[in-house]
Amino acid sequence: MNIHKFEVIVVGAGGAGLMAALYASRNADTAVISKLYPTRSHTGAAQGGVGAALGNTEEDYPEWHTYDTVKGSDYLGDQEEIEFMCSEAVSTVYELEHMGLPFSRTPEGKIAQRPFGGHTNNKTGKPVRRACYAADRTGHMILQTLYQQCIKNNVNFYDEFQVIDLITVNGAAAGVVAVELLTGELHIFHAKSVIFATGGHGRIWEITSNAYAYSGDGVAITLRRGIPAEDMEFFQFHPTGIYRLGILITEGVRGEGGVLLNDKGERFMEQYAPTVKDLASRDVISRAMYLEMQAGRGIGGKRYMHLDVRPETVNKYAASDGRKRPDGSPYVVTAEEILSKLPDIVDFCRTYLGVDPVTQPMPVQPTAHYAMGGIPTNKFGEVVIDEKNTTMPGLFAAGEVACVSVHGANRLGTNSLLDILVFGKYSGMKAAEFAKGVDFLSLPSDATDFARAQIDELLSSSGDERPEELGNKMKSVMNDHVGVFRTEEGMTKAVEAIRELKARFKNIRVEDKGKIFNTDLLTAWELGNLLDLAEVTAAAALARKESRGAHAREDYPKRDDKNWMKHSFAWLSEDKIELRYKPVVITRFEPKERVY
Ligand code: FUM
Repeated sequence: MNIHKFEVIVVGAGGAGLMAALYASRNADTAVISKLYPTRSHTGAAQGGVGAALGNTEEDYPEWHTYDTVKGSDYLGDQEEIEFMCSEAVSTVYELEHMGLPFSRTPEGKIAQRPFGGHTNNKTGKPVRRACYAADRTGHMILQTLYQQCIKNNVNFYDEFQVIDLITVNGAAAGVVAVELLTGELHIFHAKSVIFATGGHGRIWEITSNAYAYSGDGVAITLRRGIPAEDMEFFQFHPTGIYRLGILITEGVRGEGGVLLNDKGERFMEQYAPTVKDLASRDVISRAMYLEMQAGRGIGGKRYMHLDVRPETVNKYAASDGRKRPDGSPYVVTAEEILSKLPDIVDFCRTYLGVDPVTQPMPVQPTAHYAMGGIPTNKFGEVVIDEKNTTMPGLFAAGEVACVSVHGANRLGTNSLLDILVFGKYSGMKAAEFAKGVDFLSLPSDATDFARAQIDELLSSSGDERPEELGNKMKSVMNDHVGVFRTEEGMTKAVEAIRELKARFKNIRVEDKGKIFNTDLLTAWELGNLLDLAEVTAAAALARKESRGAHAREDYPKRDDKNWMKHSFAWLSEDKIELRYKPVVITRFEPKERVY
C-alpha cells in the first residue's frame, strides 16, 4: 500500500485549492491532490472579473458590495459571512496584484474595473464598476499566479490522482484515499487536516458552462460519509452560454456595454429590470430570457437570444442610457477596444460558431453555471455537519464545493472568484492551525475498503447499462424539470427518473478493465457522483415550496419569508433523503422585495 503523510491535504487544485495550499504551506507540511494538472482546473474558465470595492474609477464601498450580495442572494445568504467576504475583498485583490497577477489597467495604472450584474451604486441603483479584471481571462490569471506561488512555497503536488473517499476516525478527518490515474493503484494520504476544494457539479445538466471534470466529487464523497449537503436546490443558470454548447460568454460583455436582444430586435431587459437592464442579477435575466422565448420571441422562434456587442449597438444604447466614461466623456467604444477587452470571447465565437462578435450578434441561451449549495461550512472553512453548526474536527471545504453560505439563492457574478480567494485563504490558515495543535490519528485497518469496494463494484459488474446513456438521460431530465423554471409535477418526475437511473447504474458496464489511465472507470465513478447530487438537488427543490433566487417555481411564484427563510440540509442514504433546516443569519439588512 502506498501511504503518504502530510499535515494538510488539499483535494483540488483550482483557485480555492491553491489559495488554501499556499496559506496552509506557510505553517504546515502541505500537499495538493488533483485529478487534473493544476492549471487545467475549471477556475481557468472564469472570465469577467473578481469583485472588490476598490473604487478605482468611481465611488464604491465594501458596504455597498455587502448589500448587493445580500440582495442578489434573495436574502438567503448569511449576512455576517457576506460582510466578512466583501470586507476582505479589497486587501485580497491587492494581495493577488502583489503576487504578480497581470490585471488590466486604467490609464493611470490602477487595476481596471468594469460593471457586472447586480453590483450597484447604492445611492443611484445604477451599475457600478466593481469587477477587477484581466481582459476576459481573470480566472486563468488567478490560477497561473497561485500555482506559481505554491511552487515557490514548496507545496507538494500529486497531479492526476482521483480522490475516492474520506478517511474518518471517531468523527474526525484523518486523510483521503485516491486512485493514481497512471497505475490504477490506491494511495492513502494520511493527514491531520483535509480541505476539499473540488468545485461544482454543473455536469448534471445538459447545457452547462462547466468543464467535464465538474462532477461533484467532494459533495458526493462527503454525503457517503454521512455529512449533509446544504442548499442544493439552488443552482445558477448563467444567462449567456453559447447556444447549444453552453460555453460561457462572460457577463463582462454586458459590462462593456453589450445588450440582449429578442427576435424583434428589442432590448427586452428594459421591461424586466428598468434601472440596471442587462446588468440585473443572473436569475432575473435567465428567467426573462425564458419568458421571451416562451412568448415566441426567441431568435427565429428558437430557444436562444442575441447578445450584441457590436460597437454601433453598444454606442447607441450607451447614449440612450447616458453612460459615461470615468472622466465624464460619453461612453463610445471601438472594435479595437472590444477586441482588447474580450479577446477570448471573440475567439470562442469565431472558433465554435463562425460568428464574429465585432460584426455579428452572438446566439446565447441560459447555461447551468454555478452551485450555490454544497458542503456546509462556516467562514473559516470548517465543515459543519448538522443544522446546529457542529463542526467536524480536521475537515474543511472552500470554493464552489462549499456552502458558507455567502451566495444564498443566487450568486452575483465576480463573487465566485472572490469566494475562492477569501475562503481558500481562511480554510488554509485554519487547517494549518488545527494541524499544529493535534497529533496524527492512527489509520484504521480498513481505511481503503470503501474506496476499493466502489472500484471493484464498477469493474466487476456484468451488466450492460451504458454510462453515456444514463448520463444523457440524467442531463435531459434535469434540464427539463429542475432548470430555470420548476413545478411540483416536473420535479416529482425528476426524482423518480433519477432514482430509476440510480437503480440502472448498479448494472453499469465499464468496458476497460485495465489499470493504466482507466478513464472509462473513473468517468463511471463520476457519473455515480452526479446521479447522487441530481437526486439530492431535485428532492431539496421539490421540498422548497416558494420561489427564491435561482429556484423559480411556477406553482409557488412568490418568495415566502415566513416559512422559507432557512437553509436546507440534506442527508443521503441508500433509500431516502432526509431534509432538515436552519435559519438564515440576518444582521443589517431586513428582507425586502428585490427590484433591479
Ligand atoms: O460571466 C462571467 O465572467 C462569470 C463570472 C462568474 O461566474 O463570476
